[in-house]
Amino acid sequence: MTAHENIAALLHKDRPGHTLPQALYVSEAAHQFDTQVMLKAVWLFACTVAHIKKPGDYYVFELGKNSVIIVRGRDGDVRAFYNSCQHRGARICETERGSNPRFMCPYHQWTYGLDGKLLAARGMVDGFDKAQHGLKPVACENAGGMIFICLADSPPPIDRVKADISAQIARYDLEHCKVAVMDDLIEDANWKLVMENNRECYHCDLNHPELLKSLFAYGYGKGLPEDDGTDVVEDDDFDAMFAAKQAEWKAMGIYHDLIEFPYGWWHRIARLPLANGAVSQTLDGKPACKKMIGGVDKPDTSSLSLWTQPNNWNHFCWDHVVTFSLTPLSANKTLLRTSWLVAEDAVEGVDYDPDNLAAVWRATNRQDGYLSALNHAGIATDGYRPGPYALEEKLVEDFKDFYVRESLKALAAA
Ligand code: FES
Ligand SMILES: [Fe+2]
Repeated sequence: MTAHENIAALLHKDRPGHTLPQALYVSEAAHQFDTQVMLKAVWLFACTVAHIKKPGDYYVFELGKNSVIIVRGRDGDVRAFYNSCQHRGARICETERGSNPRFMCPYHQWTYGLDGKLLAARGMVDGFDKAQHGLKPVACENAGGMIFICLADSPPPIDRVKADISAQIARYDLEHCKVAVMDDLIEDANWKLVMENNRECYHCDLNHPELLKSLFAYGYGKGLPEDDGTDVVEDDDFDAMFAAKQAEWKAMGIYHDLIEFPYGWWHRIARLPLANGAVSQTLDGKPACKKMIGGVDKPDTSSLSLWTQPNNWNHFCWDHVVTFSLTPLSANKTLLRTSWLVAEDAVEGVDYDPDNLAAVWRATNRQDGYLSALNHAGIATDGYRPGPYALEEKLVEDFKDFYVRESLKALAAA
């Protein structure tokens, strides 16, 4: 069997309601497939517009052997290009982030504009056409300030995701935010386990004391009331409070129906009440930044959460926004990058304390990293067989189904 046939056979062994076959989580072959095939066929969250505020600011996104430069152009638009010189192929940007008026390859100094056009190349033959040698573009879309890229030659549709995200996060005005803190955490687990862990709060009660100070586990996997009043885990008190909060949000003009991975699409957006009177996802429930976002003068007791398949989740509070991106580094190592955004005019040490701003999710990430590593280590043993999901793990299955479906599609097209 070829490598692709092996992966297809494993994908066909997937059973509804159960975790994946072992080799899809732990094998080198699955890691190669994920980084060379599956993750190249879908849209990936890379960064926000706040990570590249000014023309010339760039952010390098790495996936497997590929490296992509995401850059803010002179016109304010965001574009993406392979980080590979069109002369003899050298990597152009050597640092992960930076700012420059143009890109100059370190090897022989071919120089490119922020729009990827080749501007200068010394000593070429007469008639050399610079227009034929611009940087190779990568599909790049800006959804309300969230930047997604796709490494496929024909990317799948993104229009509905873009419209839904833009409509709901416009109030948070990411163009006028800045990155206050950015943490990289390398977790000892396959990236799919890190994602699965994010998609349920079945594990929250005993593992996340800091997070649960300001959040109900409901809505993070335990299930929100559907239109018919049912939810996954019945709790009349929560349902009544949720209904009252929805009425409040309607009056404030910030209400939207829950969007939950509509079939074939890859986004979930929910406004959720904060717990214990909190107005922000912080240790004491108070804003971590004195300057509010998007012209809001008084925060309400809710936050907006956005989850996208396959590598991202985000929480929007009125004083700060926190975004998460995942990239696989090897079969059992995953980079989790967390960014905390605040209003661009907020001053560190005056309006916010970076450690206080990051405290809840820094602790939560550490706890989740520990749990994901335990999960990976156990799956790698001979004792593993695919296990059944609990009711509260519906969103884990949504992720798994997305993975299997998109993998099969990518294999069919390969
Ligand atoms: S490889 Fe970039 S200028 Fe030669
Ligand atoms: Fe968690």
